[in-house]
Amino acid sequence: MHKVLVIHGPNLNRLGQRDPLQYGAGTLKELERSLLELAVELGVTLETFQSNHEGKLIDIIQTTDAHGIVINPGALTHYSYSLRDAVADYPGPVVEAHLSNIHAREPFRQQSVIAGAAKGQISGLGFNSYLLALRAVVALLAEEL
Ligand code: DQA
Repeated sequence: MHKVLVIHGPNLNRLGQRDPLQYGAGTLKELERSLLELAVELGVTLETFQSNHEGKLIDIIQTTDAHGIVINPGALTHYSYSLRDAVADYPGPVVEAHLSNIHAREPFRQQSVIAGAAKGQISGLGFNSYLLALRAVVALLAEEL
């Protein structure tokens, strides 16, 4: 059975309280419950990880035994070359997810330094960005995408 790791970067532990107009009213726990339900439906194992620390995100990418990754790098999206290098070095499919539409926001958010190392990016669809990213990773693992 395939295993998918979902990674949430800095400040995403504050989902539900932090800027709900951008990120919605749902909490990280609620998001992870939806992801888990979908994982069961898709027949994959799910592991989740949140950290506010760049190095911890890199460590888990380097050491995970998951076959594919969904990642929302938070603000690290826009400037972390070391996270990008870790994504580029990871052997399985990686799909980047954002709750808000980063392309419709402040100029500094419109660039992702991660996207070029990922298979693709889903942005602007709230929780559905993560759910669609999970579907994409599972399809890539099954070689259906
Ligand atoms: C985010 C967008 C980033 O610009 C921001 O720093 C976040 C969340 C999103 O999911 O929309 O922390 O990645």
